[in-house]
Amino acid sequence: MSARDSDWDGVRLHVVTGKGGTGKTTLAASLALALAGGGRTVLLVEVEGRQGIAQLFDCPPLPYEERRVAGAPDGGDVYALAVDAEAALMDYLELFYGMRRAGQALTRFGVVDFATTIAPGARDVLLTGKATEAVRRRVGRERRRGAPRDPAESAPHVYDAVVLDAPPTGRIAQFLNVNAEVAGLARVGPIRNHADRVMEVIRSPETAVHFATVLEEMPVQETLDGVAEIGSVGLGVGAVLVNMVRPPVLYAEALSAAAEGDVDLAAIAGGLKAAGFEDAEAAAADLRGEVVDHARRVRVEAGMSERLAAADRPTYLLPFIGEGIDLAALHTLAAALREQGGA
Ligand SMILES: Nc1ncnc2c1ncn2[C@@H]1O[C@H](COP(=O)(O)OP(=O)(O)O)[C@@H](O)[C@H]1O
Ligand SMILES: [Mg+2]
Repeated sequence: MSARDSDWDGVRLHVVTGKGGTGKTTLAASLALALAGGGRTVLLVEVEGRQGIAQLFDCPPLPYEERRVAGAPDGGDVYALAVDAEAALMDYLELFYGMRRAGQALTRFGVVDFATTIAPGARDVLLTGKATEAVRRRVGRERRRGAPRDPAESAPHVYDAVVLDAPPTGRIAQFLNVNAEVAGLARVGPIRNHADRVMEVIRSPETAVHFATVLEEMPVQETLDGVAEIGSVGLGVGAVLVNMVRPPVLYAEALSAAAEGDVDLAAIAGGLKAAGFEDAEAAAADLRGEVVDHARRVRVEAGMSERLAAADRPTYLLPFIGEGIDLAALHTLAAALREQGGA
C-alpha cells in the first residue's frame, strides 16, 4: 500500500448520502475508484435495489455476490455488491441458526416479508450489516459457520475500504442509527449481538458519512440539516461533495455587470459579425438573455458555496461532465477527488 495524503486516513467505511439526484451513486462509484488507487481493494455497496452500480459500470445486473467491476489506473480493484434485504436475511438465518432451508420455507409463508417490510429497523440492520461485515472481514478467515468469530487481528482486511451508496439525506440518520429499533425487536440473542457489532463499526472513527450536493437551495439545505443531524447522533461527518460544478464562462467584472442585466450588446453583435454570423443583432439579443441567466446562476452558486462553508467540513468540487457519466467520467471524478485530498 502506498502512502498518500488523504483527509480520510483511518476511515474504512465511507457512507455517501445526499438529496436524490445530486449524484450519490455516481460519486460513491468515483470515490471507490479513487480509494482503489495505489493497489488497494475497495468494495462498493448498493442497498436501494436499483442496480445503479451495474448500469454505471456497464455490466450485467449484479447478483447477490461481490464482483469485480473496475480497476484503478495505477493498480487496485473495485468490487461491487447489490445488497438485497431478503437475501441478507437468509444469510443471517444460516449464519446464526444454520437454517437456510428453513429460511426458504419462511419466505413462502411470508415471514421474510415481515422482517424486511414490516420492521424497517430489521431491514436496515440487515443492509448495514452486510457493509459492516465487509469492513471487518479479514483475509484467510472467510465467514463460515463454526469459524472463530474474531479472526486473528493481525490478518489483513479483505477490503481496504468499503463505500456505501446509501439512502438519501432524509432517511440516513435512521438508516444508520438502527440500534434502538432493533433493540425493541430483539433484546438478547444473536440478532441483538449482530446489531451491536454493526453499530460498533458505524459509531467508530472508521466510519464517515459524506454528503453529495449541488449548488442549489434545496440540496444545500438538506446537506446542512444532514450534517447537523448525523453529528448530533454521534456519527462521523465526512466531506461535502459539491457535484456538477460548472466554471463561470465570463470574467468576474463582466459577471457582476451581467447579473444586473448590464450586457454590452454592441460588443456581442460585433463579435458575432466578425465570426461571420448572418443576423448578428438578433443573435446577440438572444445571447444576452443567456449571459444574464448564467451570471445570475453563478451568483446564486457563490451564495450556496458560502452557506456550505458553514458546515466546516472538507469540501471537494466535482466538475459537471457534459458528455454524461461513463467509465471515463468516473475516472475523471475519481482523479478530482484524489487531487483534493478526498482519497
Ligand atoms: N458530475 C456530473 N456531471 C454530469 N452528470 C452527472 C454528474 N454526476 C451525476 N450526474 C448525472 O446526474 C444524474 C443523477 O446522478 P445519480 O448518481 O444517479 O444520483 P443519485 O444517486 O443521488 O440519485 C445521473 O443521470 C448522472 O449521470
Ligand atoms: Mg442513486
